[in-house]
Amino acid sequence: MAKAQTSFTCTACGAVHRKWAGRCDACGAWNSIAEGAPLSTGPGARALGGARGRTIGLTSLATEEAPVPRRSSGLAEFDRVLGGGLVPASAILVGGDPGIGKSTLLLQVTASFARNGLKCLYISGEEASAQVRMRAQRLGLGTAPVMLGAETNLRDILTTLDTERPGLAIIDSIQTMWLDTVDSAPGSVAQVRAAAHELVTFAKSRGTAVILVGHVTKEGQIAGPRVVEHMVDTVLYFEGERGHQFRILRAVKNRFGPADEIGVFEMTGAGLAEVANPSALFLSDRGQPAPGSAVFAGIEGTRPVLTEVQALVAPAPPGTPRRTVVGIDGGRLSTILAVLEARCGIPFAGLDVFLNVAGGMRVSEPAADLAIAAALLSAREDVALPPDMVIFGEISLSGALRPVAQTENRLKEAQKLGFSTAIAPEKSKSGGNDEGMRVRKMPDLVTFVGELFGAG
Ligand code: TYD
Ligand code: MG
Repeated sequence: MAKAQTSFTCTACGAVHRKWAGRCDACGAWNSIAEGAPLSTGPGARALGGARGRTIGLTSLATEEAPVPRRSSGLAEFDRVLGGGLVPASAILVGGDPGIGKSTLLLQVTASFARNGLKCLYISGEEASAQVRMRAQRLGLGTAPVMLGAETNLRDILTTLDTERPGLAIIDSIQTMWLDTVDSAPGSVAQVRAAAHELVTFAKSRGTAVILVGHVTKEGQIAGPRVVEHMVDTVLYFEGERGHQFRILRAVKNRFGPADEIGVFEMTGAGLAEVANPSALFLSDRGQPAPGSAVFAGIEGTRPVLTEVQALVAPAPPGTPRRTVVGIDGGRLSTILAVLEARCGIPFAGLDVFLNVAGGMRVSEPAADLAIAAALLSAREDVALPPDMVIFGEISLSGALRPVAQTENRLKEAQKLGFSTAIAPEKSKSGGNDEGMRVRKMPDLVTFVGELFGAG
């Protein structure tokens, strides 16, 4: 006899648990697990029975496939993040904090596609058509041939899409959409998952590219777009620090192009402006060389980007010293501090450390280690680094410097922006071409400290 099984579902990520718990094991969210029937994940759980299925047609990997045709949006930064343009029939998720500028970006993208001759439909579930029109007029896009709708009922939306057959449809946002076949409130995991599934299926079967907008909240209280991530072809995150005007569109998953690619925008009074040369922008407000500042020559996706790492070291009151980071992983800072102490004998105990990447940029490359160490040492010793110097290299736990990829591109970008010296790990491969830079190659952190700060 089948026993009725209650199950518990995390409202943040959709993971199903057997028991209630205060914290979801899958995504780490607190107080997000609620009692409820498990989500149906496709065909019913009935046994297949005796019926035979059809045989699937199989091909070999060598089958010739035409290259995917792509449509250019006319916004180079957006095209770059997609991997060179919009692929027909693809499903794209654009996630980000509320108010970061997703609707603004997508309205501009849609208008641009529409002006290039693509049939575009923009469905807003959050704003009335008049509101969207007002924004479009303010952005100077009032004349773009975009078809606009304000609706949240997915059945009506799908019928409309099927009649109109646009090349691109924007759904803003997936959390406001609801299906009458699903018995829960809009924004719940079940609704978001079902709505996304319907829209992705529509995209695949009718050849319409679909862009879904998804809000992410830090608390994960409403169903985050995480449940949608595995259904779509491309996941883009629109991020930026509040109070900074720079916005970064980052590809975290892309079936049609490189992941980790970024597009840089600036939020202005007239919408989002593309930033073609982000390095110049991130370094633009650098004043006189000051202690605690180091320039990191990084790679974001396929493009080199120079950023400034800033550190401040101050005597700490009794107790555990503070370690505050913005734009860098806190664990990475702890590791670098430990290596500096253990391998170079430079302690940071009793000192508060603040570390920051200028301009609201987020750096996740291990190649930033050496620039972080340089900024920390420069702040601690109160010695400014030469203003024409860029730094890159990964620090291993032994204190050795590990070479990083794309040395040549890093040097080329630095040279272009007027830098003349680079500090790099000894084994860096620059193809014998240093791009006109003086490259000082160092085997380990001890040598680095000795050369830049004397004996330490
Ligand atoms: P919006 O696109 O509505 O954010 P989201 O859809 O991600 O919730 O953007 C809202 C913010 O953008 C708002 O705080 C004001 C700002 N903004 C500008 O600074 N300039 C502009 O031209 C526009 C349209 C918005
Ligand atoms: Mg919006």
